[in-house]
Amino acid sequence: MSNLSMEQWGEPIGPEVMVHSTSQQAVEQLAGEIAAGIRKRTRQGGRYVLGLATGSTPIPLYEELVRLHREEGLSFEKVTTFNLDEYYGLSPESEQSYHHFMQKHLFSKVDIAPERIHIPDGMVPRNEVERYCAEYEEAITQAGGIDLQILGIGRTGHIGFNEPPSDDSTRTRLVTLDPVTRQDAASDFGGLDFVPKEAITMGIATILEARTAVLLAWGERKQEIVSRSLASSPSSSIPASFLNLHQDAAYLLDEAAAPEFQPA
Ligand code: GLP
Repeated sequence: MSNLSMEQWGEPIGPEVMVHSTSQQAVEQLAGEIAAGIRKRTRQGGRYVLGLATGSTPIPLYEELVRLHREEGLSFEKVTTFNLDEYYGLSPESEQSYHHFMQKHLFSKVDIAPERIHIPDGMVPRNEVERYCAEYEEAITQAGGIDLQILGIGRTGHIGFNEPPSDDSTRTRLVTLDPVTRQDAASDFGGLDFVPKEAITMGIATILEARTAVLLAWGERKQEIVSRSLASSPSSSIPASFLNLHQDAAYLLDEAAAPEFQPA
């Protein structure tokens, strides 16, 4: 594994960049850290608060967490979760919903208490969305804030569904999806016409309040946007670049997604 800091790009501070040979090695490291955090907090009698992401990228991480639960006794009983986002207009039963995704890949396979799972509700009536989003933020605060937020990155530079231009004042809200993002989701929905046009997402400010944030990216497909995000000063044109402001953020990459750099 190589471990580089933004200083190598000439920036004063920035996220850690951790490059593993494979995504499997990367998720094993992160799952180990999450497990240690959960166990420590549980021993102290507290609750670990995990921010969760969807998309293909975190699937191997969830598989590893399930393995730790099944084979190494990792309990999620004292874990509270908050998901980043949900398509607007999709019911939790819809196969393309992030509710369905999370049940399938993680929640149905571990001992988490259903009442401690939080995923934005894509079916909130439009005139109640603002109140609902404020309540989602309040629930995060009431839970004590997010200990570790897992993130993927979209080709537009979005984290959650914070499409450009999203800045670091944004909070949980209803957003319009970028055409590139909808195109990338088209195969999941059986065609572009079926991809929702809107979503509810945590904001950049919400994400930056997590005590630790880890952005995962695998494969050549993500290399360009990862490089641009890391090289950019924080800018609403690449929302992920706001992570470069965070005191404890990391990009966890496989070799194919890593920017081309000369290791020190
Ligand atoms: C969606 C999700 C993002 C995710 C992105 C990338 O847009 N809302 O949270 O990071 O897809 O998806 P994938 O991991 O499949 O590349």
